[in-house]
Amino acid sequence: MKDINQFTLTDAVKESFNTEEGSRFRFLLETFIEHLHDYTREVNLTHDEWMTILNFLYDCGKISTPERHEFILLSDVLGWSALVDMINTRGGATEGSNLGPFYLDDAPEKALGADLAEGREGVSVLVHGIVRDSLSNPLPGAIVDTWQADSTGTYPIQEQERGQDKYDLRGKLTTDEQGRYYYTTVLPKPYTVPYDGPVGDLLRAGDRHAWRAAHLHFIIRAAGMRSITTELFFENTEYIDNDAVFGVRRSLITRLAPVKKGEEFDFTLERRPDAKVHFDFVLAPEG
Ligand code: BEZ
Ligand code: FE
Repeated sequence: MKDINQFTLTDAVKESFNTEEGSRFRFLLETFIEHLHDYTREVNLTHDEWMTILNFLYDCGKISTPERHEFILLSDVLGWSALVDMINTRGGATEGSNLGPFYLDDAPEKALGADLAEGREGVSVLVHGIVRDSLSNPLPGAIVDTWQADSTGTYPIQEQERGQDKYDLRGKLTTDEQGRYYYTTVLPKPYTVPYDGPVGDLLRAGDRHAWRAAHLHFIIRAAGMRSITTELFFENTEYIDNDAVFGVRRSLITRLAPVKKGEEFDFTLERRPDAKVHFDFVLAPEG
């Protein structure tokens, strides 16, 4: 009989799985078991602590619904989502950042120059730039899929019971022959991640706030290129240095500039903006 003790247990558990040699699955599983056991030995985990962790995970599952994925939120506040985004960003491409829970893959198509604000109150902002590859070639026909909160920090999708249309403040634009995208919208405000569940309890236990810096979300797609999911932030705004989900990257902070009286643009806009931000998205080739 094998002598299984706290030092031989890790190998015994690894060997209990008959996974394909050299497979990615075996590598992921074995490494996870090693780190889990090492952590347990390192912190001398007590039964109470072990049960607290398991109950916390149980509560995350209990509160989750198709619209609310508490485990993703947990991953976000622990910086795990940010780490996955960081290590999967291709050199030369725009850095990735949080997808968040409010993306809809069937957002309406919007024409270049459209006003996504559609009469909403707030500062009207022109968002523009080009989508290009890492050799600076513009990418005509790229899709700029964007969504955001309003000037009170609320996503219309959260306000459907109050008569808001979930497809508001979002849309898919297609870049023109110069790779340009441009539209106006309302300047978003910061908002809190949901903190009425177990992840909120964790934030409170660690004396942390739940606020996200104001941001615009994007997924940029182009034929033959690797898509990016990212966010743009605004210089010198609240929570830029302590975003609750670690989404802010220096390279994703834009400068909001006023639009001067009489300033002209070399494209047509549905609404004249008060301010503007410029950002070029860079995609790396697929593969
Ligand atoms: C968001 O940016 O929409 C978001 C990200 C993480 C958690 C909650 C919301
Ligand atoms: Fe968001």
